[in-house]
Amino acid sequence: MNDVTNEAPLQFESDIKPLFRERDRDAMLRFHFDLWSAGDVRGHSAAVVRRLRQGTMPCDGAWPPDRIDVLERWLAQGEN
Ligand code: HEM
Repeated sequence: MNDVTNEAPLQFESDIKPLFRERDRDAMLRFHFDLWSAGDVRGHSAAVVRRLRQGTMPCDGAWPPDRIDVLERWLAQGEN
């Protein structure tokens, strides 16, 4: 488990958006949401985290768990 109390707040633009490749964004725009939009990622957060944890997204290779932890930490902050 991460010790969240000692970590600086995450910013979507600098910490989260770069986790999503242009290829991820382009593929998922066709599915009607934008992985480079903080609002869209929050709006679809349950499905996004579910698919990342399952390893079924991205379609070409799973994320390591610590990368998903960063995304979830940002989601838990509830802002930006
Ligand atoms: C980090 C990157 C990605 C994330 C977080 C992501 C997330 C998701 C989510 C949440 C859904 C909807 C599933 C649902 O509502 O249950 C989805 C569907 C889909 N995604 Fe992605 N995606 C990513 C990258 C990609 C890539 C690289 C491709 C392949 C070109 C892709 C192709 C698709 C397709 C075809 C669907 C619709 C069919 C299905 O549900 O399997 N996605 N994705």
